[in-house]
Amino acid sequence: MRALLLLMLTMTAACARENEAAPVATRRAQAACGEASDETVRVMRALAPSCEGCHLTGVRAYWSSVTSFQNLVVANPALITPGDPDASEFVRLLEGQGKGAFKQMPIGTKSYADLVREGTATLPVDDVKAWVRGLTAQPRNAQPDFSAARVARLKPEQVQRALYQQLGLVHADFFIPASEYGISMAEPRGDEAYPLQPNDAIPAPRQQAPRDRFQALGGGSSFGQRKSDLTVGPSFVLTLTQVSQRWCRLGLNKMGNVALFPAGTTRATDEANVKATIRRWFLHFHGTRATDAAVDELYTTVWTPLKTDTEAAWVGLCSSFIRHPDWIFY
Ligand code: HEC
Repeated sequence: MRALLLLMLTMTAACARENEAAPVATRRAQAACGEASDETVRVMRALAPSCEGCHLTGVRAYWSSVTSFQNLVVANPALITPGDPDASEFVRLLEGQGKGAFKQMPIGTKSYADLVREGTATLPVDDVKAWVRGLTAQPRNAQPDFSAARVARLKPEQVQRALYQQLGLVHADFFIPASEYGISMAEPRGDEAYPLQPNDAIPAPRQQAPRDRFQALGGGSSFGQRKSDLTVGPSFVLTLTQVSQRWCRLGLNKMGNVALFPAGTTRATDEANVKATIRRWFLHFHGTRATDAAVDELYTTVWTPLKTDTEAAWVGLCSSFIRHPDWIFY
């Protein structure tokens, strides 16, 4: 066991040295280390808008990091035959000529080549072919890379579920049952609560606004033929900000709700109690313990400027945990 570990360490070191010696790393040197070439990174990024929506998590999380793409796609002989695009299932899938369980990617009515033709996707399939032609044999790194980034942002369904749970809210706080042609629907109690419901959910939202909000958070829809978009764009940030503030207020004002202030805690606004609450919420929302410095910072930058309006100050604190990278990404 120890010998194996040593061997691995030596191999890693050799790779690192090789790259240092050649600052402008050639493709071959990168490939020898099982690293993605610059061209691979370019192709990966250019395909991302069409593919990453379904390939960020799970066993086929090809787009979760460059290392994943390199090891799970480029160095996977079942998908890529270096130098030979026509023999590469990856390329065939783009053209709607897959030979395995799937004929095309993305799954749906249009192949990637169709998307390029209609202008929705930008990287021509010929560029992908040229990239495969230029690839040399790819050593496959069988060891998991512990330092590889495995960051994904919460999907809108997860945002909704997590907020319901953490703020002590439920579907019935936002919707009343309704029916349309005998199909049950979710009728918003009012839009001022910022209700959010996926288009494809059962019950489906009866009004447009809850769907729009779900879409703004990046939600896709099979019925609506809309891809999900898990990038962190302005519409995501804006919507999450509004929803988190509104829903924190709802959670704080909900009768008998113990999610934010469990039995035995108080809403006293003295410094000690506010800091104790910050500490508790830090663990509640981020799953890690707050350092003293983090508690002090939230107290001075969020609580203090708002504290003349106690409700706004609690809402500000609560939502600051949600509009935070530690909450959005996992
Ligand atoms: C709408 C969702 C969706 C999109 C978008 C999507 N895929 Fe997939 N892809 C899947 C699913 C589902 C599978 C197979 C099931 C699984 O993940 O286990 C799959 C499997 C694959 C496989 C493995 C195929 C095999 O035979 O082993 C490859 C390669 C792949 N996708 C590439 C892509 C590429 C490239 C794109 C973008 C051009 C893309 N996918 C876009 C859903 C999607």
